[in-house]
Amino acid sequence: MPISESQARNIVGVLTEALPYIQKFHGTTLVIKYGGNAMVDDVLKQTFAQNIVLLKLVGLNPIIVHGGGPQIGEMLERLNIPTRFVHGMRVTDAETMDVVEMVLGGLVNQDIVSVINNNGGRAVGITGKDGNLIRARKLTLSQAAPELDVPEIIDIGHVGDVTEVNVDVLNVLVKEDFIPVIAPIGVGENGESYNINADLVAGRVAETIGAEKLILLTNTPGILDAEGVTIASLTSDEVRALVKAGTIRDGMLPKTNCALSALNNGVASAQIIDGTVPHALLLELFTDAGVGTKITNG
Ligand SMILES: Nc1ncnc2c1ncn2[C@@H]1O[C@H](COP(=O)(O)OP(=O)(O)OP(=O)(O)O)[C@@H](O)[C@H]1O
Ligand SMILES: [Mg+2]
Repeated sequence: MPISESQARNIVGVLTEALPYIQKFHGTTLVIKYGGNAMVDDVLKQTFAQNIVLLKLVGLNPIIVHGGGPQIGEMLERLNIPTRFVHGMRVTDAETMDVVEMVLGGLVNQDIVSVINNNGGRAVGITGKDGNLIRARKLTLSQAAPELDVPEIIDIGHVGDVTEVNVDVLNVLVKEDFIPVIAPIGVGENGESYNINADLVAGRVAETIGAEKLILLTNTPGILDAEGVTIASLTSDEVRALVKAGTIRDGMLPKTNCALSALNNGVASAQIIDGTVPHALLLELFTDAGVGTKITNG
């Protein structure tokens, strides 16, 4: 059936609106954090993969860093391994770390790779151990307690902080037109594994590889103000004020922290968008309105 005149006008309008953005981003690298909560639905996974394949075909270089908190929790439950959280972080003993590595590096990573490849892309899955991409050290948490003179140090096991990023392996993959998909596992001095917050890994990879943009896909429409309204754009000073006021908290904190650090280290902009909206990536990159919250230096 031939398309109607108005449908034709719509299609032409959409493509024409996208043109200046395709020109602007052609040849640039984007680091995209794919949150565990945005990948629970099969339809969303398919549209995410289609968006990534399209970005690559129009000349952008997407690099994906994924989370997987809900998927790790599910597997620990299936295996009857009890789990405990301190300050929102999972206490990760050696047995739990094995599960984290299997779920993130095995199941979740390879699931994303195969959905992208089924949609015609060329994705390659790696963890931060491959090519020494992410060097890490144990993250220590301290907690002030009124009855103690010095803060109590809390051991949360194999939870890591990034010490060094070596992007050689990413440069090789991108140059050959592969799409890297990174599981947020780092390697310590003695070859031990660390579970690292994926936002943190995405931010550090973006600044080290010199990405044009850092995009964090999550499960809210963006950064919300105290009234729950999505804020379209924020400067780094405004972000700091919202953190101080307690409006930005919990899972949003590592996102804004890594965004501010990336902006300070050469990344032009960071965007927090709703990964539960189909095609959020295309709407953000290729439309005049954009979606979510854009953070810029200032
Ligand atoms: N000001 C704010 N605006 C929006 N969300 C906020 C704000 N402050 C805190 N949050 C919380 O941050 C959450 C997003 O972070 P969260 O760590 O839960 O998801 P994710 O990082 O996308 O997934 P994963 O950690 O599995 O990779 C939101 O669902 C919301 O509860
Ligand atoms: Mg998170």
